[in-house]
Amino acid sequence: MEGTLTARDKVGVQDFVLLDAHTSESAFLDNLRKRFSKNLIYTYIGTLLVSVNPYQELGIYTVSQMELYQGVNFFELPPHIYAIADNAYRMMCSELNNHLILISGESGAGKTEASKKILQYFAMTCPMTKSLQIARDRLLLSNPVLEAFGNAKTLRNDNSSRFGKYMDIQFDFKGIPVGGHIISYLIEKSRVVYQNQGERNFHIFYQLLEGGEEELLAYLGLERDPQLYKYLSQGHCAEESSINDKNDWKTVSNAFSVIDFTEDDLENLFGIIASVLHLGNICFEENHHGCAAIPHTHEIKWIAKLLGVHSSILLEALTHRKIEAKTEEVICPLTLELSVYARDAMAKAVYGRTFTWLVNKINSSLANKVSPHVLDDLLSLTWKTVIGLLDIYGFEVFDKNGFEQFCINYCNEKLQQLLIERTLKAEQAEYEMEGIEWEPIQYFNNKIICDLVEERHKGIISILNEECIRPGPATDLSFLEKLEEKVGKHAHFQTRKLAGPKGRKRIGWMEFLLLHYAGEVTYCTKGFLEKNNDLLYRHLKEVLCRSKNSILKECFLVAELENWRRPPTVGTQFKNSLSSLLEILISKEPSYIRCIKPNERKEPSKFDDFLIRHQVKYLGLMEHLRVRRAGFAYRRKYEHFLQRYKSLCPDTWPHWQGPPEEGVERLIKYIGYKPEEYKLGRTKIFIRFPRTLFATEDAFEFSKHQLVARIQAIYKGCLERRAFVKRKQAAIKLEAYWRGALARKEAKRRKWAVQIIRKFIGGFIHRNEPVCADNKEFIVFVRKNYILNLRYHVPKNVLDKSWLTPPGILENASDLLRKMCTRNLVRKYCRGITAERRALMQQKVVTSEIFRGKKEGYAESLNQPFANSRIDEGDINPKVLQLLSNEKIQYGIPVIKYDRKGFKARQRQLLLTQKAAYVVEHAKIKQKIEYSTLKGVSTSNLSDRILVMHVSPEDNKQKGDAILQCEHVFEAVTKLAMLVKEDVVNVVQGSLQFYISPGKEGTIVFNTGAEQKIYKDKNGQLTVVSVRKKS
Ligand SMILES: Nc1ncnc2c1ncn2[C@@H]1O[C@H](COP(=O)(O)OP(=O)(O)OP(=O)(O)O)[C@@H](O)[C@H]1O
Ligand SMILES: [Mg+2]
Repeated sequence: MEGTLTARDKVGVQDFVLLDAHTSESAFLDNLRKRFSKNLIYTYIGTLLVSVNPYQELGIYTVSQMELYQGVNFFELPPHIYAIADNAYRMMCSELNNHLILISGESGAGKTEASKKILQYFAMTCPMTKSLQIARDRLLLSNPVLEAFGNAKTLRNDNSSRFGKYMDIQFDFKGIPVGGHIISYLIEKSRVVYQNQGERNFHIFYQLLEGGEEELLAYLGLERDPQLYKYLSQGHCAEESSINDKNDWKTVSNAFSVIDFTEDDLENLFGIIASVLHLGNICFEENHHGCAAIPHTHEIKWIAKLLGVHSSILLEALTHRKIEAKTEEVICPLTLELSVYARDAMAKAVYGRTFTWLVNKINSSLANKVSPHVLDDLLSLTWKTVIGLLDIYGFEVFDKNGFEQFCINYCNEKLQQLLIERTLKAEQAEYEMEGIEWEPIQYFNNKIICDLVEERHKGIISILNEECIRPGPATDLSFLEKLEEKVGKHAHFQTRKLAGPKGRKRIGWMEFLLLHYAGEVTYCTKGFLEKNNDLLYRHLKEVLCRSKNSILKECFLVAELENWRRPPTVGTQFKNSLSSLLEILISKEPSYIRCIKPNERKEPSKFDDFLIRHQVKYLGLMEHLRVRRAGFAYRRKYEHFLQRYKSLCPDTWPHWQGPPEEGVERLIKYIGYKPEEYKLGRTKIFIRFPRTLFATEDAFEFSKHQLVARIQAIYKGCLERRAFVKRKQAAIKLEAYWRGALARKEAKRRKWAVQIIRKFIGGFIHRNEPVCADNKEFIVFVRKNYILNLRYHVPKNVLDKSWLTPPGILENASDLLRKMCTRNLVRKYCRGITAERRALMQQKVVTSEIFRGKKEGYAESLNQPFANSRIDEGDINPKVLQLLSNEKIQYGIPVIKYDRKGFKARQRQLLLTQKAAYVVEHAKIKQKIEYSTLKGVSTSNLSDRILVMHVSPEDNKQKGDAILQCEHVFEAVTKLAMLVKEDVVNVVQGSLQFYISPGKEGTIVFNTGAEQKIYKDKNGQLTVVSVRKKS
């Protein structure tokens, strides 16, 4: 309702409840007219939908419209039939109960269209599975088939439903339409044999003739022209521009294929339709006995062929009647009139029962077939709820009203009763329940009329039945008299006889008048008995029971012939079917659609006030509105009211913690409701004037925008937070996974390390054992490790004696390696030294050969490189140089020469040439010792620096041995030895003898002492004291 409030200014009010002058019929009509003129055909009275037939396509039934209304709060959008359908559907889904949409209105008001729109809405908007699409298609396509057989063009409606229809749409627990069931009520069979001027028979006849293929028509013995058939041509309007029979035929044929009709079914079905047409064309003649005869049997033969009966038997059954008399059967000919009656009765019976068969057939195709074991397993899942659609004939008042109108109007009385029970009474009960003081609304309870028609033994139907079975000549007139006698005093019943002089003019002799809730209707009793009996002569029944047409076989059971009890009359059948219909309806939650026909001429945009006023009246709309308003235009449960308007009061926004009624009280106090404007019930608030609600709604509209901004902000924040939390959780998860992965890796590594360490320790323990599994790897490791380590500790040069200590198992290898390494270093070293150095080295080698291990100080001398010479050429006297010019000086060194006798020390130079050694004093060569004459060279084993060059005593040129002391004694001796090229050097211990002069020898004694000194001892010997080196 709230949504409608905002749009109320648009055109009139969308809900009559909000009409200020709610008691005024004119205001009601004005609102309806105003909206109708703007093509707004739907208006609510609360949850009841009033629909005015627009007689034009309005473009309001599009898929986008369906989507618009889907799942939207009922009052949020402008009134629409889809809102009713959606509301029922959603309530059904949420409350899991059955619903009903009751569509009523007079012929042509749009009931059938409304029911189709609802069905389409469900088909389009309900969830659907592929497997259930066929069920949906069948539900949709059952309509054109039923309409072809049950609808006809009447003066009021080109597609008038001539039967009442109740359809259940079954939904499974998911809200998917899974099946359906149709119940049909009282098809107008008389139309098969008779139509008023301007009306037609049922559509199927015309469709078959217009659209049927040539072969089909030939098979059925039909011509394409409807004018040739009596049953189709009485109304003189077989051709109707608004109806396209050819197209409709295509739709129906297609529908047949979807709804499981086999070729045989269709052949038999159209055989029956065709035979009805042939029946209508049978002509009777009166023979000379005054009895009926059939001169031309052309039609009889076709009927016999199509229905699978014997033509002669059929012919006899149409013109004779069997009378059972005690033990024998007597066949009496029929009069012309009775034959025509028998023929029409046969046509009606055949058509009527075929229609019932058709409905059953459609039902079996619509039935939701769940296999039994699935049903056992999934009992809860197969839970089904239904939405029922009741499209039933509205109240009818014609110039001449017959038995059918009586039944139809009786039906409408019953439905009005339902409405009263479910809405008017319920509404008032609500006030009582809510403890609201109010003045009861007066409305007419039509139960009294229902009783007049249906009461057992006393009602009109009972009286009619009695009259039908009563022995003796019962006629329509005798029935009327019985009525006068039995219900004549009823306030709602009148006949010409009972009416005063005033009423006489209005009621004919054969008529009675019923004062229905919707107005007076005069019924003509003519045909009441016959129609109520609906007699088909037994003879004809026998023929039909033996038919070979499989449909007729199902419709006319042989068992029927054996049952001698009278079948229930049409009136009783109708009464019973109505009471079971009401049971169905009462068990469901109803929604109402009241259809209104705007004019009699089917014209768009024409609003016939008189006609509509009448419909508003008999549809009980004003009463409904009055009760709906009942002094209060609006009521709402506290929770809902508070929920909607709580934003208008700071105390109730955003949440009210206490009981809702207190919240509402606080809210309305805050917004300033005056005491006369509202009442508080037990569970609901009742608002008296629409303007109060409008003001509240306006305030809400205003605050809504602010709220929306706030809600949007909170919602966006919420979304962001949610996204953030999601991201955070994802990050935490990732981190956890990553940490886990790392930890697992670490654990694996540690485990591996432990194994390695264990293996290592094991290997270490068994390291000295022969290679086995325990130490194999350890040994490999140690080897590898040693070798790898060794590369950092390889000696860098030949003098470097360091070497990495090998593990026990590698000692041999280490030795080998060490040797290789040394050899390599030596090689490298050797390759690297110069020729000069090599010469020096060779000198050192010679030194080594002479002194190693023999003379003290040798070891220290090793590190002192030899010089080429210790005297530069410049330091040698040029004269000496001149004297030696033939010989190249190889080596020179300053020396101290000790005299052989006095051992006096004198500074000299020792010069070595290739041939001789010279002792030189400045410019004089003091002594020349040729190497060839050199006897030897002596040194002591101590660290003194004395060397003695021995000459041969035989050599005359020589004075004696030369006793010399020089700094570099090893060097000088080595040079000398090398030049001499002989093994001349002698290292002596203790003392040595030297040659002084021929025959005279001296001694040099070598000693060690605290200090170094050389002196001539008292024995006249030269004593050389040297300091002993610490070893
Ligand atoms: N909502 C609508 N929009 C457009 N045209 C409509 C609408 N409702 C009804 N009509 C028109 O009115 C005609 C009659 O409607 P419909 O057959 O539904 O009437 P009815 O109430 O079922 O009548 P009856 O009682 O005779 O069966 C339709 O054939 C269609 O042309
Ligand atoms: Mg209809």
